[in-house]
Amino acid sequence: MERPTVLLAVDGEAESYFQALERAGFAPTRATDGSVPDGSFDLAVIDCDLGGDLAASVYAALQENRTVPVLLMLGDGIEVPAGLGTRADELALKPLPPDALVYRLQALLIRGGRHLPTESGAWASDEGLSSAPIAGEGHAVSVFAPKGGVGKTTICVNVAVALRQQTRAEVLLFDADVGVGNVTSVLDVPFRLGLADLADSPPDEWTEAAFEQCVTTHAASGVRVMTWGTDPAESERISVDLLLAALRWAKQHHSYVIIDNHPGYDDRTMAMLAVANEIFLVVTPEVGAIRNSSQFLELARKLGLGSVVKVIVNRANHGIELDDMSASLGLPISATVVSNGPKAVIASNEGHPLVTKYPKERISDDLHSVARLISAPDSQPVTQSGASPRRWWGRIGERTSHA
Ligand SMILES: Nc1ncnc2c1ncn2[C@@H]1O[C@H](COP(=O)(O)OP(=O)(O)OP(=O)(O)O)[C@@H](O)[C@H]1O
Ligand SMILES: [Mg+2]
Repeated sequence: MERPTVLLAVDGEAESYFQALERAGFAPTRATDGSVPDGSFDLAVIDCDLGGDLAASVYAALQENRTVPVLLMLGDGIEVPAGLGTRADELALKPLPPDALVYRLQALLIRGGRHLPTESGAWASDEGLSSAPIAGEGHAVSVFAPKGGVGKTTICVNVAVALRQQTRAEVLLFDADVGVGNVTSVLDVPFRLGLADLADSPPDEWTEAAFEQCVTTHAASGVRVMTWGTDPAESERISVDLLLAALRWAKQHHSYVIIDNHPGYDDRTMAMLAVANEIFLVVTPEVGAIRNSSQFLELARKLGLGSVVKVIVNRANHGIELDDMSASLGLPISATVVSNGPKAVIASNEGHPLVTKYPKERISDDLHSVARLISAPDSQPVTQSGASPRRWWGRIGERTSHA
């Protein structure tokens, strides 16, 4: 099986990039003097700051015969040089750590409909998968917060069910909070296998049938659920590759994939964020959560993921006002969910989604609105602010809403 080939036209970081790409299963080649070495390339990385016209000449030579998706690296405040950049290309701001380069290229591959390499250096060679009829490229939404306990799982479960009610399409709820995720304790589904059960198998056994075995269905809604497993002791064995392969399969066979993530910046979570079509950043109206979210947004912008983030405010009626949150984060608030502790606890204890257990409550309306961000993506945000983030921590605690 062939590794995806990457042309590397960069200066300073070349060696660490080269090694990181090799470790991640890519086959990198250096472009040293502005000429493109022989061979056909699946992807390329070009540093726009390369001296003279090097960047432009590598770019032109590369695109001579066919379109190759390129990650263009730019210094802060530098414009893309003339002649570079098409719709297939993406931008990355420097400095770009080697791990981030790997995620970006994995994302480019997945978006281009290609298989991912595995850490062992071979393609994930599931023949059954590659010849299977493709239901269409599903839309993956990663629900994330750098802080624990802000409502990610509650939002994931209810948005998955609401989305299913709104569209009747195939929806997969993917529990990628490896080690601690608890989708199946909030949503009552019969447990089958989890991804942990595939962790010891080589990638060529990660077949369509194997992934299908890890799916269970929530009978009342028809939402399909895939989990990492149940035993935290097994969690270390679940690799980034396995999660990415599962997600690729999930996107091929479902119209929507809602991913519940771990709160943090571990490799698995970063991979789930990098390859998602959208990231729903869940924030509660508290200084700590906003501060952490601001830091995440800074990182997301550096990694080129800023444009796919939507902010969802949970427990929105208690705490800092939405306009202030929006200004602090430099993004509009796309949707809000009110607080309703008693109902949330009962629903979760019974294993029922709020949206079906309490369909008439405001919290269920709100959760439906979050789902409509996916099913009807042209809906208007709750606040309009998209200005650049302003320094806020000196004053934000002073203004709170009084709902
Ligand atoms: N809008 C809400 N109103 C009232 N209670 C809520 C709301 N959203 C979440 N909760 C409750 O808050 C608790 C934490 O929610 P949840 O488990 O969804 O957070 P999480 O971000 O997934 O946490 P973790 O980081 O631990 O995975 C749960 O008890 C849940 O029922
Ligand atoms: Mg959770």
